[in-house]
Amino acid sequence: MVNEAMKRRVAILISGRGSNMSALTEAAKAADFPAEIVVVISNKADAGGLAKARQSGIPAVTIESKPYGADRAAFEAALQSVLDRNKVDLICLGGFMRLFTAEFVQRWYGRMLNIHPSLLPSFSGLDPHGQALRAGVKISGATVHFVIPETDAGPIVMQGAVAVRDDDTPDSLAGRILGVEHRIYPDALRLVASGRTRLEGGVCRTMAGPAADALLISPDAS
Ligand code: GAR
Repeated sequence: MVNEAMKRRVAILISGRGSNMSALTEAAKAADFPAEIVVVISNKADAGGLAKARQSGIPAVTIESKPYGADRAAFEAALQSVLDRNKVDLICLGGFMRLFTAEFVQRWYGRMLNIHPSLLPSFSGLDPHGQALRAGVKISGATVHFVIPETDAGPIVMQGAVAVRDDDTPDSLAGRILGVEHRIYPDALRLVASGRTRLEGGVCRTMAGPAADALLISPDAS
């Protein structure tokens, strides 16, 4: 049991369907989860995740980024005021498709997580599944990392892997990796929110052992 007052206050930032947001909000319902989701913020009014958040009883706010155009700092000022109003301790990006200024990222360094559907540092940026298939890798996966100014980079908190199949399409691979994302994002947030991670020279150390089933070899030659 984690005392309500001890729970870290988390904002989830989304731009779309918000399936990772749902995985995080579901996990956070557990009494012993060390974080509570206090607000969901979308930069797009038509993001499917907004309705899902409201159905779960979580306040959902839209700050349309489009009217701000290239003025990222002005958008971030509006965002920061919502974060301040909600006394947010940690930010989780869940398919948030807007780049931040280096100033905003520095301000939240060590307190902002992102999930990306590849085993970083491979295949950052757009179309990571297509990139993985074109490279012919046999194992891919997902990564939860602290956000730094460089896109899809930063200290890695947790990764999960899947075998890539010869007949995979970007969609089929994305579907399997999404299942991994929904497992590792809540687990990574649990680690960070409970203070079991520390940043050391650009690397995240965790006070958690390696997974018991850490061996994945693919393809199977037998
Ligand atoms: C997820 O697959 C997430 O890893 C990816 O966007 C999707 C959002 O889905 N993020 C990135 O590619 C970040 N570079 P969701 O809205 O259902 O969580």
